[in-house]
Amino acid sequence: MRKIGIIMNGVTGRMGTNQHLGRSIAAIRKQGGLELRDKTVVMPEPVLVGRNALKLERLAKEWGIERWSTYLAACLADKENIIYFDAQSTLLRAESVKEAIKAGKHVYCEKPLAGTLEESLELARAAERAGVKNGVVQDKLFLPGILKLKQVIASGFLGRVLSVRGEFGYWVFEGPMPPAQRPSWNYRKEEGGGIILDMFPHWQYVLENLFGRVTAVSCIARTTIPDRVDEAGKTYTCTADDAAYATFELEGGAIAHINSSWATRVNRSELLELHVDGTAGSAVAGLRECKVQSRVTTPKAVWNPDTPNPIHFLDAWQTVPTTVAEENAFKIQWEMFLRHVLENAPFPHGFLEAAKGVQLAEAGRASWSERRWVEVPELSLR
Ligand SMILES: NC(=O)c1ccc[n+]([C@@H]2O[C@H](COP(=O)([O-])OP(=O)(O)OC[C@H]3O[C@@H](n4cnc5c(N)ncnc54)[C@H](O)[C@@H]3O)[C@@H](O)[C@H]2O)c1
Repeated sequence: MRKIGIIMNGVTGRMGTNQHLGRSIAAIRKQGGLELRDKTVVMPEPVLVGRNALKLERLAKEWGIERWSTYLAACLADKENIIYFDAQSTLLRAESVKEAIKAGKHVYCEKPLAGTLEESLELARAAERAGVKNGVVQDKLFLPGILKLKQVIASGFLGRVLSVRGEFGYWVFEGPMPPAQRPSWNYRKEEGGGIILDMFPHWQYVLENLFGRVTAVSCIARTTIPDRVDEAGKTYTCTADDAAYATFELEGGAIAHINSSWATRVNRSELLELHVDGTAGSAVAGLRECKVQSRVTTPKAVWNPDTPNPIHFLDAWQTVPTTVAEENAFKIQWEMFLRHVLENAPFPHGFLEAAKGVQLAEAGRASWSERRWVEVPELSLR
């Protein structure tokens, strides 16, 4: 059994606690560690890092973790810790990641990697120069519904993909009752908030990995809810976009349109749905499920609003069955990153890929503010 020291910064937050500590690292520890190709079993030994000692102590106890610290520099100086992980709020990430790279740690991060493309590329170059392994969370690729959609695409069922329509969002309460279910910094631009910076990095890697690279974007956004109530019960002014409506042009000619909103009431089966139309068939994928309809089973719709439609359109779809054991998407990617660090396994989700997500968010913001289509050039480290 080999112990692997992992610094987990920002672990008291929503993502840090639930997805990365609870459902990933603690879950890997609970299953007895991770077995490598050469049969060595590695056991993650995290040190939980943050500002609030009381919270860290409580969290460590809850998850059976021995180490916690409010002093990042000391954790970085400890040679036992070979990986630095960051789930701090977005604008805090770049500085800590720079320190971690300087200390020679391999680095794994939440998205977006940084607040700007320039900063993201700087981190990617620094990691490359230092020769440390690097990675960013691209969890949506490992969701059961999206994995099924990938399988549908790979089978050729859809034929030529024509368009993708995405609906993402739900109502985020303004507070005080019911209290908001997302942190208040999400609604303050100056603290790294905004739905474009939050969600476009996801759309970038989902679209590129499933359908083709995004080559241009047209986006319009709004701050629909002007005031909200924060974690302390205080009313604040929202300065960030909370709804964005964007059209993406893809390499190969398909068009994707995705609505992202924290001010919409859900009338769909899942919080994210992607509807893909192709010449030979269509698919509708969510977080967990994927439905398909082929050309030969497509009902012949005839426009006549004067009588009730005899076709039950929703019944004309088939569900893609679950054929493999489903794992938490974040845990799948954590195990991939550990294998990347420990046995050099491939990990196609490095900092350059992370920078592409921030690039698309910047392009989306530019399109909105300048009221025009914005090209998205191919990115490289040079
Ligand atoms: N992959 C995904 O699906 C997904 C979903 C939501 C959020 N995220 C990303 O995860 C990151 C964290 O988001 P969250 O929703 O967990 O936020 P959160 O507000 O719940 O957590 C933020 C963390 O940063 C820490 N922090 C905040 N201000 C700090 C400061 N001044 N100094 C030091 N630490 C500070 C907090 O203590 C906390 O641990 C963000 O970058 C966000 O974009 C990713």
